[in-house]
Amino acid sequence: EPTLHELAAAQGKYFGVAADNNEIADAAYAETLGSEFGWMTPGNAMKWDATEPQQGEFAFDRADEIVAFAEANGQKLRGHTLIWHNQTPTWVQELPADQMQAAVDEHISTVVGRYEDQLDHWDVANEVYDDSGALRDSFWLRTLGEDYIADAFHAARAADPDAKLYLNDYNIDGINAKSDAYYELVQRLLAEGVPIDGIGLQGHLIVGQIPDTVQENIQRFADLGLEVAITELDIRMELPADDAKLAQQAEDYGAVTEACMAVTECVGITLWAYSDKYSWIPSVFPGQGAALPWDENLQPKPAYQAIRDALSGS
Ligand code: G3I
Repeated sequence: EPTLHELAAAQGKYFGVAADNNEIADAAYAETLGSEFGWMTPGNAMKWDATEPQQGEFAFDRADEIVAFAEANGQKLRGHTLIWHNQTPTWVQELPADQMQAAVDEHISTVVGRYEDQLDHWDVANEVYDDSGALRDSFWLRTLGEDYIADAFHAARAADPDAKLYLNDYNIDGINAKSDAYYELVQRLLAEGVPIDGIGLQGHLIVGQIPDTVQENIQRFADLGLEVAITELDIRMELPADDAKLAQQAEDYGAVTEACMAVTECVGITLWAYSDKYSWIPSVFPGQGAALPWDENLQPKPAYQAIRDALSGS
């Protein structure tokens, strides 16, 4: 039986997964984690609060552990994430503009430089728009102004000329006001010579509510010269799960996978954990969950077979 990643690779794409340190320490979980997937994203270990908790004091133990796990299993890595309004320490948020810019430059050159040989992608800027399509009112925007986005990409390119540099966000999977804002931002940045290579559609979706414009949306970014990745896929439902919801979820996973398969520039898909045992959903959306293709007991759900079918074009 080929793995999910082998099926994807046969079509020129990858199939990946996000993981945290506690998950790779779970032996039963780690077995499928290391074998079924070809790419890995650290779920938290490369965020600013993990890598530079105090100014100038870098901590790479957690990130190194994930990198070592991925390399031991022949997996490539997506770095996640450099500039985000969450999980960035208070000391950064409170700096005045000139010092914040200097801290960003040092952070990006140190973290990206350290993993220059190990990482193939970086989510440089994460979730910079709100759902209305306005730039998010974050400490980044308030202190540095909107150039913080372009500046982060330049700094990342300087630190690693080969990594593919991504914008990444949720609720931009289909065509809507927020993905329109990205579509315009990308055109502006590219015209200004900002080194952006890709756009990550996070894919935090809801069973029965997959936008019907995912493929069209992927295609329009591809037509701008970008690559596209589905970076954090999960498809949640109201609990408890039942056969009808699981069947709908399978159809939904199949549809998202097919949308990526249909566009050459869609390079791959990453699940945000593979089993309901380690999903972030129930803690943030009480009463919802069962969002991943494997259940809490690490048993594949109907969605697993639907992804396999979509990856093999059947
Ligand atoms: O590490 C601490 C631990 O020391 C403490 O005891 C425990 C108690 O709450 O918290 C632990 O930190 C948690 C961390 O995950 C590591 O498990 C945080 O509370 C928790 O808020 C954090 O949640 C993460 C979330 O981002 C935070 O914004 C999720 O694991 C992570 O999956 C999620 O990922 C994001 C992507 O980065 C961006 N897109 C959306 C996605 C889902 O929210």
